Amino acid sequence: MPSARLLVLFGSQTGTAQDVSERLGREARRRQLSCRVQALDSYPVVNLINEPLVIFVCATTGQGDPPDNMKSFWRFIFRRSLPSTALCQMDFAVLGLGDSSYTKFNFIAKKLHRRLLQLGGSALLPVCLGDDQHELGPDAAIDPWLQDLWEKVLGPHPVPLNLDLGPPGVPWPSKFTLQFLKDTPSLDPEELCVARTDPQGPPSELQPFLAPMVSNQRVTGPSHFQDVRLIEFDVSDSGISFAAGDVVLIQPENMASHVQQFCQALGLDPEQHFTLQPREPGVACPARLPQPCSMRRLVSQYLDIASVPRRSFFELLACLSPHELEREKLREFSSAQGQEELCEYCTRPRRTVLEVLCDFPHTAAAVPPDYLLDLVPLIRPRAFSIASSLRAHPSRLQILVAVVQYRTRLREPRRGLCSSWLASLDPAQGPVRVPLWVRSGGLTFPKMPDVPVIMVGPGTGVAPFRAAIQERVAQGETGNVLFFGCRRRDQDFYWEAEWKQLQARGCLTLVTAFSREQEQKMYVQHRLRALGPLVWELLDGRGAHFYLAGNAKYMPANVCDTLLSIFREEGGLSGPDAAAYLAQLQRTLRFQTETWA
Ligand code: 2AM
Repeated sequence: MPSARLLVLFGSQTGTAQDVSERLGREARRRQLSCRVQALDSYPVVNLINEPLVIFVCATTGQGDPPDNMKSFWRFIFRRSLPSTALCQMDFAVLGLGDSSYTKFNFIAKKLHRRLLQLGGSALLPVCLGDDQHELGPDAAIDPWLQDLWEKVLGPHPVPLNLDLGPPGVPWPSKFTLQFLKDTPSLDPEELCVARTDPQGPPSELQPFLAPMVSNQRVTGPSHFQDVRLIEFDVSDSGISFAAGDVVLIQPENMASHVQQFCQALGLDPEQHFTLQPREPGVACPARLPQPCSMRRLVSQYLDIASVPRRSFFELLACLSPHELEREKLREFSSAQGQEELCEYCTRPRRTVLEVLCDFPHTAAAVPPDYLLDLVPLIRPRAFSIASSLRAHPSRLQILVAVVQYRTRLREPRRGLCSSWLASLDPAQGPVRVPLWVRSGGLTFPKMPDVPVIMVGPGTGVAPFRAAIQERVAQGETGNVLFFGCRRRDQDFYWEAEWKQLQARGCLTLVTAFSREQEQKMYVQHRLRALGPLVWELLDGRGAHFYLAGNAKYMPANVCDTLLSIFREEGGLSGPDAAAYLAQLQRTLRFQTETWA
């Protein structure tokens, strides 16, 4: 059994797969295995044929899609031209991260496992099915799987575990060194990075466009439970263009009061500037981080202090803690036995990085700045469906944002970072700019004229369909059928006047379901079922495309079930034939979904 060269490759969307991979790397090194940890797309994939032992850690996103940073690997590994002996040298194991409330649970990990076998690889273990829905999170499956893995890798005579994590204050080396400057730079380099150096290319994660916010308006009634905003940005002279179905990515910031509390807890001066250097060649500084950078900017724009910390956060804090009682508690939280307690303390009530640090004040005050980026994950951009068309609103981009707020047993309500930040910005009080860029289509609409579209979008799920309808109406397409659902017409019926006008012009068929205006819940799928003959005729007779978007947890599955019943009852298909019909629509992109939890 080869034990010298272990490679861990990850495909990560939200950072969990990366976090798990880094943990794997640390555990391997403690077992005196040499180990590299890399994102799948940053690894030269042709080298795989020479790798003796590879652990793949992959998330499944959306409707069974690979994460962005393994998309090119995914295309490569499924090339037909690859010989069936390509990976016959390789022992491998696949660790999947998914969510069992989705039908395609861990689809990517399972599919990768099968493909690696086809290419001649030998599986050390069955696929590990990490599940976000599990009370203890994916670790519930990962912990026992890792134990089996180390047994397989090291064989019957493992080298003694190097359990010595060093004295407190000396954990594994940090990814970066952070050096404070004595003086504040006279020319503020933070302003320099605002100017785009490549005005030719469209804005991207590396070079977002700082879009002026034009308006930010609450569109739900005063008695509605949720604050939903219609937000408009000016994208003139930005190089940004988009089509219906595209999404905009927004890079949010932490609230100023949280930044202040964080700096206080860690004894950091927000005004102090520093430079940051990776310690290892494979590690890159965060995108767009100016050098030198102020602590305030690092904390407000880069460190996700409002996220719920992962287990590795506690592991690292335990190593860094100079305080015996705190250290003991942190060690417990990072141990396999302590996971139920950690879940109770942190995951279930959604306690944040900042709140945990405030609960462990002696430890927080002792965190060396070098470790900041090991400890706290980076703020991820958030994706929103674009709700307007450039044809109807030239140079403008609109989104519909539900401000996320909910209560747990903690006193402070939990708030969504990006939606709360956006809601707090008021262009009436002075200029506001938001870093954003556009990514093309979660949903794609038919290019051919005269193809009807059926769109089902309850709540904010209607956003991409407004863009589509505006675009199609501008092109003279009239076959637009929209099923919209909300609680009450006077509280959360977005764009009512606009729809009515389009209906009067004969450009739109609008079907509404107001769930709380009568005793019994009325949902979009109930309306869909009642119009079964029309739906079947449009799909089967006229080649319509069907779209589904929204954030209700059970809505997508409920709508799919309703569609299947329409195929059976209106189309006369058997159960299996109805399922095959839906699968065929999916394959040919005539059935598309964009759903979020
Ligand atoms: P409710 O909140 O009254 O249950 C937008 O959120 C609309 O979607 C609301 O009217 C909401 O109804 C409704 N909704 C909630 N769950 C749903 C489901 N499983 N299927 C369809 N619509 C649903």
